[in-house]
Amino acid sequence: MSKPKVYVTRLIPDDGMKLLYEKCEVTLNPHDRVATREELLAGVKGQDAMLCLLTDKIDAEIMDANPNLKIIANYAVGYNNIDVAAATQRGIPVSNTPGVLTDTTADLAWTLIMATARRAVEGDKFTRAGKFKGWGPMLLLGQDVHHKTLGIVGFGRIGQAVAKRATGFDMKILYYDKFKMPEVAAKFGAEYCELDELLQRADIITLHCDLNESTFHLIGEREFGMMKKTAYLINTSRGPVVDEKALVKALQNNMIAGAGLDVYEDEPALAPGLAELDNAVLLPHIASATRETRGAMARIAAENVLAALEGRKPPTIVNPEVWKGN
Ligand code: DGY
Repeated sequence: MSKPKVYVTRLIPDDGMKLLYEKCEVTLNPHDRVATREELLAGVKGQDAMLCLLTDKIDAEIMDANPNLKIIANYAVGYNNIDVAAATQRGIPVSNTPGVLTDTTADLAWTLIMATARRAVEGDKFTRAGKFKGWGPMLLLGQDVHHKTLGIVGFGRIGQAVAKRATGFDMKILYYDKFKMPEVAAKFGAEYCELDELLQRADIITLHCDLNESTFHLIGEREFGMMKKTAYLINTSRGPVVDEKALVKALQNNMIAGAGLDVYEDEPALAPGLAELDNAVLLPHIASATRETRGAMARIAAENVLAALEGRKPPTIVNPEVWKGN
C-alpha cells in the first residue's frame, strides 16, 4: 500500500522527522531557509498533509492549491500565520504545539527581564571591548527586579509560568487578560487589572497574549505614555502586538527605561533605529529554542499529521469543529 504524502516546509528536529519518515512519503523543502510563496504553492500540491512553520503564510490560495489536504500542522504554539477561518471553511484541520514550550518560553521572558533590568548585554559588550578598568560605584547601574511589580499581559499557560517564576523574586504580580482567573491568580497572589491600570502600576510589563485583531498594536504611543519612565517592556509573544515604531520613539525619548524583545513586527526586519539603542536587548525569536523543546514540538507536530492521516482526531487541533470522526 502506498504511504500518505506529507510536505514539510523546512527541516525540523529528528524527533518529528523520524515519525514522519516511518509512515509517510516525505517531501522536505531542501533549503534551510523560509520557503518562498512559489515553493509553498508548488510543494503543497498532491500532498495529503502539510507541516509548516510560523514563518510560512498559509492562506486560502495555498489551501486551494490542494483540495485534498487533510491537515495543516503548525510547528509552533502561535498560529497567526495560518488563516484558520479559511481552513475551517474548507474543512481542513489545523494543529499547533501547545504545552511543551510553556516553561522554555517563560524562561526566556525571564532572561530578557534580567538582561534588560541588569544591563547584562551592555555589560558584556563593555567587558569584551576592554573598557572594564575595575569595580566602580557608578558602573552600569541597573534596576532591581526583586520586590518590584510585574505586569503580565495575557495570563494563559506562558503568562502563568512567568508569574510562577516571579514569586521566587518576591514580586507583586498584576495580570490582564480577557478572562479573569481568580483561582489560578490566587496561586501566585496575582491581582487582576485593566490594561491601563497595569501599564501605570507595573515596573516590568511582559506580553504573553495571542496576536489577533484585538491585540494588534495593543501597546503603542498612548500606552507608552502611561508607563512609568523607569518601566521595562518585554515581548516574547508576537511582534505586531507592539507598535515597533512607537517603541523606538519611546526608547529614544526615555519614556520608558528599556525593552527586551524576542519578536518583531516585520520579522526578520527591525524598525529603523531599534538596533542602535543600548536600552533594548534584542533576541532572534528564540523563546522556544532549546533542544528539548524544539524536539518535543517536532514530535507533537508529526503526531498531529499522523493522527489526521490515520483518521484520528489530531491531539492538538485548533479548529475542532471541522473534525467529524472520533
Ligand atoms: C511559537 O511556538 O509560537 C513560538 O513563537 C516559537 O518559538
